Amino acid sequence: MEQPPPAITISTLLTVVFPFTFFTIFLLRWLLPATPPTQKCLPPSPFRLPIIGNLHQLGRLPHRSLYLLAHRLGPMMLLHLGVRPVLIVSSADDALDVMKTHDLVFSNRPRFTASEKLLYHGKSVASSTYGEHWSSIRNVCVVQLLSADKVKSFLAEREEELGVLVEEVKQLASVGLPVNLSEMFCSFCVYVICRAALGRKYGGAKFREMIGEFMRLLGGFYMRDFVPWLAWVDWINGSDAKIERVAREFDGFLDNVIDEHVKGESGDRSVEGGKDFVDVLLEVQSSGSDGTAIDRDSIKGIILDMFSGGTDTTYTVLEWAMTEILIHSRVCRKLQNEALEIANGKPDISESDLDNMHYLKAVIKETLRLHPPIPLLSPRESTEDVKIMDHDIEAKTMVCINAWAIGRDPAEWDEPEEFRPERFMNSAVDFKGHHFQLLPFGAGRRGCPGILFAMTTIELVLANIVHKFDWELPAGTTAENINMTECSGVVAHRKTPLVAVAKLRSF
Ligand code: HEM
Repeated sequence: MEQPPPAITISTLLTVVFPFTFFTIFLLRWLLPATPPTQKCLPPSPFRLPIIGNLHQLGRLPHRSLYLLAHRLGPMMLLHLGVRPVLIVSSADDALDVMKTHDLVFSNRPRFTASEKLLYHGKSVASSTYGEHWSSIRNVCVVQLLSADKVKSFLAEREEELGVLVEEVKQLASVGLPVNLSEMFCSFCVYVICRAALGRKYGGAKFREMIGEFMRLLGGFYMRDFVPWLAWVDWINGSDAKIERVAREFDGFLDNVIDEHVKGESGDRSVEGGKDFVDVLLEVQSSGSDGTAIDRDSIKGIILDMFSGGTDTTYTVLEWAMTEILIHSRVCRKLQNEALEIANGKPDISESDLDNMHYLKAVIKETLRLHPPIPLLSPRESTEDVKIMDHDIEAKTMVCINAWAIGRDPAEWDEPEEFRPERFMNSAVDFKGHHFQLLPFGAGRRGCPGILFAMTTIELVLANIVHKFDWELPAGTTAENINMTECSGVVAHRKTPLVAVAKLRSF
């Protein structure tokens, strides 16, 4: 009698048939093109591995790895980071095409795990989808916190915090101890934003550490963003739990801040007219005068935008500018001479003096060229198919502009690796989003709205600390051996804190 065919048991299915089928489907998916070949002209792509695509090519500092890759493949490359197609732009001409010619198509931000959780599911300005909600909350920020008038109105806060910083440096200088400039710049920037946005200082070291962790998580790498079916990796390595914890901590903190403002207990309202930014956001919420709803989560998201957008970035510029000044004593002397002339015998440089400090402005521009705080500008996403420089870019492609690479492009800059502020003297090139060879703040609709706030702060601090003190590298550190390594993450600040020795200048 013929043997009946062996029945397929559940265990055979689980151990042999299912894995084999999945593996075959997977292999075919990676080996065969997903759609029949078309006439599309895609940008060049490097060879990619199954599943992870080009993720392995990013390295610890993606702006540097992509800069090297662009030398091989050209200024416009299409990478595949897991399942995400990502266009990498490394030249001023291509950046102009993306951020000016096709600005509207690239006005969206891609969704990421950390920003979803930490920035209230797209309710903040930076994480919001392009549209009415984004436009109305961005407008509130610009008018109520970041406009020229508002920035001017925070003069007292900036000057008081600068006074605190200068006093600390004086004390250390008087006993010959080195100054941890990174830490001081960080506290200064956090306090200035705190006082402008929240009406008073919060926190101390614990609060600074909280913001630091928030920024690290916001810029972290999460597997589910690129290979969704490997999301469990984020759970196993503890990232999910960390994001949940920090989101909860900040949510509690912001609830407190808002409740204090609602009850009128928010302490020293030093801002003009007794109103700070949170009061204004609450007013907009209750009046609905913006045309769309600003709910409590939007208020919290917007406040976090101000901290995440305005603290790390600003102190990173101060850190790198001082690093370059310490390395280039010629630049330091020239800056001190300019300050001396402008101050005209006064011990302080005031904000009204800054307009005439052209060399100072050139030093900051040169710092932003070589050390853009967000080297791979905050990513955008295309909303529809578009043609860029003869290349077809599909809808939902993420776009990263490598501002770090553009700042070093020999087609745009003479001796690009040299720190030479003089290149900006008598030059019209600015960083406000009109000159695509210098893009530290991005450009177009989604360009940074905090340029004035940041620049006023940076100029005031730099002008005063080079005017009041002579600076030297600490014993054992020289211009040749100083550590210039950057941190990984969204904001490329120094990997090791900047430490220097100050000597009070006499006039
Ligand atoms: C040196 C300091 C700063 C740098 C280098 C910087 C850089 C940037 C960059 C590159 C973007 C993305 C632009 C784009 O996609 O084209 C951005 C967006 C943004 N920045 Fe800044 N920023 C700085 C300071 C500030 C400050 C002080 C604030 C506010 C207090 C701020 C708030 C924002 C916000 C809210 C966005 C999102 C804009 C949107 O998506 O519509 N930034 N910034």
